[in-house]
Amino acid sequence: MSNPAMQAFDPIPSIRRQVSVTVAPDLSGVDKAGAVAVPVDATNKDARVAGLDREALSAAGFDAKRGQTLVIPSAGEHVFVAVGLGSGETVSAALVRDLAGSFARAVPRQLHLAVQMPASPTALTPREFAQAVTEGVLLARWRFFLGKGREESLLDSLLIAGPDEAADEMREGIRIGVALSRASNLGRDLANCPATTLSAERMTAVAREVGPGAGLEVEAFGKAALIEMGCGGLLGVNLGSAEEPQLIRLHYKPESPTGRLALVGKGIMYDSGGISLKPSDESHAQMKNDMTGAATVLASMTVLRELGCTTEVIGYLCCTDNMPSGTALKLGDVLTMRNGTTVEVLNTDAEGRLVMADGLALSVEDGVDAIIDIATLTGACLRTFGVDIAGVMGNNAALMAQVKAAGAAADEPVWELPLHRPYRRQLESSVADMTNMGGANAGSITAALFLEEFVDGRPWAHIDIAGTGQLPAADAWRNKGATGFGTRLLAEVAVNFQRAV
Ligand code: BES
Ligand code: MN
Ligand code: ZN
Repeated sequence: MSNPAMQAFDPIPSIRRQVSVTVAPDLSGVDKAGAVAVPVDATNKDARVAGLDREALSAAGFDAKRGQTLVIPSAGEHVFVAVGLGSGETVSAALVRDLAGSFARAVPRQLHLAVQMPASPTALTPREFAQAVTEGVLLARWRFFLGKGREESLLDSLLIAGPDEAADEMREGIRIGVALSRASNLGRDLANCPATTLSAERMTAVAREVGPGAGLEVEAFGKAALIEMGCGGLLGVNLGSAEEPQLIRLHYKPESPTGRLALVGKGIMYDSGGISLKPSDESHAQMKNDMTGAATVLASMTVLRELGCTTEVIGYLCCTDNMPSGTALKLGDVLTMRNGTTVEVLNTDAEGRLVMADGLALSVEDGVDAIIDIATLTGACLRTFGVDIAGVMGNNAALMAQVKAAGAAADEPVWELPLHRPYRRQLESSVADMTNMGGANAGSITAALFLEEFVDGRPWAHIDIAGTGQLPAADAWRNKGATGFGTRLLAEVAVNFQRAV
């Protein structure tokens, strides 16, 4: 329940932090206290950084391997950071974002950073280059920290140098990069926030705080409304909780929409497993992030207007915690979901699909062209793909192609698993339309087959981020803890959405 000592801090500190990102013709205006990135291609034997040749750099341990950095201080001038490009790498947005992240991470105390756009033509436009640098730096320099010093600025400015004729294009890239990284950092803040602080109702408060300013209409339905609406999945999972459930509906409606898309996010504020209690191991402590899907939908929707998205987008955040108690959902209970389907609960730890079912059914009722859901749904997905790649399944090839393309553009990669319908048999129940529990194997696929029962044949894609939601250690722009994975991907899908044919 709400504990005053735990309400004292802000669940979304990073979106209040402003970093100035500017364009200049050269690096002459770089703050003396700043750090300048100097990219070094491993094949360039004549490269020099701050007067040091390749031999001297090598003696200091720097071989220009991809993502490698060497900080070179100098008296009275800014710090130089040699950043390895590797050899023969194509200069992609993903590479630039990675290197910008490694650079920003190499000088964690520098408040002013600067990057020169390479003069030689690369495969990237100035806009793409500036966007990738901005994202890499702002994502790498985000922290969620609840101790002393959290008011300190983690970065004051970023300067990107490039020729005057490219300045407007670069500014446009910066604008997009700032918007996307702020959104991603909002998603990270929410996913990292401890569960007792970030209850479902507090999630509604956050949506109301950030939504309207971003052009989103925000509605929230609590327990009484959900009973009225027949949302048995959300209500069933909420039975053991001392907190209200919240179904949060976000609506982005541009003038003359070119398509209509629903985004549904799993919002389990804390997943204890319920009566099917999880063991007290490391993975259990991670379960404050079981609302990452909902955080990702909210975060991505905050940038739609800024990105000029012409797709109408409806978001459903299915929020409650999953707790054991005297009133909790029991094994063998039968729930009636929003679309009338009955579900026999054979494991209360398979709760994500229960809350998602109601969000999917409501999306169908909205008559959208397509539905994309995102959820930390199965441990099986983490075991299949590890922490770098999310699983995706769906019923429509055109929509799947859009999700994969967005994942590639955002460098938030997804890989398709088969929606193998014969496995639907594993969900058969003798007392209800289906159970919530598949067999011992192919857990990510049976979970998706469960969800499919609620989309009524509409184009639908399901993204399982159980693995990618959280990283054990930082890597370039990717931080330890909540990754924000999916925020930039979903924004990209929405902006480029084409009705599936
Ligand atoms: N939230 C978990 C899935 C999860 C596991 C996310 C590890 C991130 C890391 C989900 O609710 C869950 O408990 N799934 C069960 C399903 C099973 C009981 C059918 C699982 O994966 O074990
Ligand atoms: Mn669970
Ligand atoms: Zn869960």
